[in-house]
Amino acid sequence: MDRIRVGIIGCGYWGPNLIRNFSSCPLTEVVAVCDANAARLESIGRNWSHLKRVPSVDELLQLSLDAVAIATPVSTHFPLAKRCLETGLHVLVEKPLAATVAEALAMIDLAEQQNRVLMVDHTYLFGNPIRTVKRIIDEGELGDLYYVDSVRINLGLFQNDINVIWDLAPHDLAIVEYMLGGEARSISAWGCAHTASGIEDIAYVNVDYGDRLMASFHVNWLSPVKVRQMIFAGSLKSLIFNELNATEPVKVYDRGIDVGASAEERQRLLVSYRSGDVWSPHVGAGEALQAMAMHFAECIRDGATPLSDGQMGLRVVRLLESATRSIRAQGGRVVLNHGAFSHGDHYARSGGSGEFHSHRAERTAGAQRPHSLLR
Ligand SMILES: NC(=O)c1ccc[n+]([C@@H]2O[C@H](COP(=O)([O-])OP(=O)(O)OC[C@H]3O[C@@H](n4cnc5c(N)ncnc54)[C@H](O)[C@@H]3O)[C@@H](O)[C@H]2O)c1
Repeated sequence: MDRIRVGIIGCGYWGPNLIRNFSSCPLTEVVAVCDANAARLESIGRNWSHLKRVPSVDELLQLSLDAVAIATPVSTHFPLAKRCLETGLHVLVEKPLAATVAEALAMIDLAEQQNRVLMVDHTYLFGNPIRTVKRIIDEGELGDLYYVDSVRINLGLFQNDINVIWDLAPHDLAIVEYMLGGEARSISAWGCAHTASGIEDIAYVNVDYGDRLMASFHVNWLSPVKVRQMIFAGSLKSLIFNELNATEPVKVYDRGIDVGASAEERQRLLVSYRSGDVWSPHVGAGEALQAMAMHFAECIRDGATPLSDGQMGLRVVRLLESATRSIRAQGGRVVLNHGAFSHGDHYARSGGSGEFHSHRAERTAGAQRPHSLLR
């Protein structure tokens, strides 16, 4: 099969990473790059002089392409993806998929009508650390999950069109959606802006996954130190993914509590503490973005549904939109009507590389807490 001919739209901070990875992917060749900013195009030309450079999508769509990868600001994802899908191209969109749920739904519909692959670059899902975490959870080593605690803070690059949740939380929300299979029930968020723009630069987001499983996300552009860590705590063991630990990014802790076996012990809350081994599973080398590019290409070649398809992108956008709505309501809890779009075992349909199939974590249905909800 001929290589898939890819055009890259948006060559700012992230676009060059897509150029590099689609150039080295054996199934694809980058034919052209597009950016509305002439200085960015000129800079790309210094490193990749063989690529055709065009200043507008109109000109890009005159070329013979099979697919595009879009790495432009979030507000432009929908209009650009729409044009490319209408032209019959397969589309990869940077995270988050779209700026609103309505846009995400329209993109999914259009991709289906056109019979084209629509995929979101939720990069972490293709990295070996997260695949290792997923395997450990799916094998039941942690037991029943109790909570997820995620912290992604730094002196961040302030964005002028999106708040810190839309900038940073797509990564962590996508990871948790991938681990749990998209069963978020409700969300509440608290955030604050410290500049005249009014754009929140710090936020705390809480998502209720039912079955006594809660997930909390702290995202922040104002932190003096960089932390990128997720704790997955279970009834048997707990796990920490620390992205900044290059040699041992995943550690499993055989630590936790044991509640008394008898009814009387439980009644008296007799809890004993376990403090066992800590071990660090082997995590293979390899760049997540390279695996992501390969997966997109394989899905095009095989007519398969990507792991991070439009539905996954939609679920993340739904959480982002609801979190921002909750902030405006002083942290009011927003119910997530995911029945309208959630596909329980959706990922299992993915047939691309065969490597990225999800085995939804099995959790027994527990008592669901009633709570006051914004509708
Ligand atoms: N997957 C990841 O880990 C990751 C990391 C960083 C950014 N991103 C995502 O990548 C996207 C871009 O982010 P960035 O930080 O590179 O932004 P950026 O502002 O640095 O770059 C965007 C580029 O798009 C160009 N552009 C804007 N509108 C255009 C249009 N209509 N046609 C052609 N070019 C246009 C701009 O001139 C600019 O060069 C965002 O969606 C962001 O969330 C993903």
